[in-house]
Amino acid sequence: MKSSATLRRLCDCTPAEKTLYTSYLLVVGLGYLMAMVYLYTSHAGHDQRPGVSLEDVAANYYGNRSGTRLEAAIRGPMAGYISAEDRTEVVAWLKSGASRADYQVSVEPILERSCTGCHNPRSGLQVPDLTSYAAVQQVAEVDLGESLHTLMKLSHIHLFGIGLLLFTVGMIFRLAEMRGWIKVSLIALPFAAMLADILAWFLTKQDPVYATVVVIAGGLLGLSLTLQILLSLWQLWVPPRGAPREAE
Ligand code: HEC
Repeated sequence: MKSSATLRRLCDCTPAEKTLYTSYLLVVGLGYLMAMVYLYTSHAGHDQRPGVSLEDVAANYYGNRSGTRLEAAIRGPMAGYISAEDRTEVVAWLKSGASRADYQVSVEPILERSCTGCHNPRSGLQVPDLTSYAAVQQVAEVDLGESLHTLMKLSHIHLFGIGLLLFTVGMIFRLAEMRGWIKVSLIALPFAAMLADILAWFLTKQDPVYATVVVIAGGLLGLSLTLQILLSLWQLWVPPRGAPREAE
């Protein structure tokens, strides 16, 4: 027998330890459920359809970059006033985030040439003013999703907060009895999933296809955490049959 002999099992814990572990696991489980409800209610319906879809997740990080009034106008009722080349230029500017610097270089000359004859405050027409950057912004508000700054704030909170949560639940779960490789996998999986999830937020900000990774990684994190909690609770109160396993 090795020096550590047999590992202490969850069912061998003292009543005080069992009470502490059980209360903690229940509170963590409830907290996780609340987090899911919160995620659901804050992501659902971005795409005007009920429930949370991949499009909703993509919209949260990538935004909806084709939703401006300006783009709708130059593809629709104002299409006749603008050349195809100029339209491509304006749309590219909108998709890149509609910055002031690019506006002055490439967009202002186009608008002056084709649009401001009617779209100025003195025209007397009930039309949006397109003679300055500030005015154009009113019809060029692009939804770019969560800002990088917000994502960095959220990711450090998640790394510290969920990291600590996974550590404490893992400290309890490591006393559960099962094959060594299963236990090691179930302990490593949520950490890996959390890292993949957070990395995928940043990737989705660049390209909406990564929304799938956000969803899969988030699902794996939830699944492995749930398994750790349920298996620990089970083994705390229902002693496993047979002799204790060798420490693994
Ligand atoms: C001959 C005058 C005229 C020219 C030139 C013109 N517009 Fe317009 N525009 C209008 C009028 C009138 C309206 C309001 C009625 C409408 O929405 O069709 C309008 C509406 C708009 C709107 C608001 C649509 C909305 O969401 O309500 C936008 C944006 C717009 N134009 C952009 C442009 C752009 C960009 C150009 C240049 C490529 C341009 N317009 C050229 C007359 C003009």
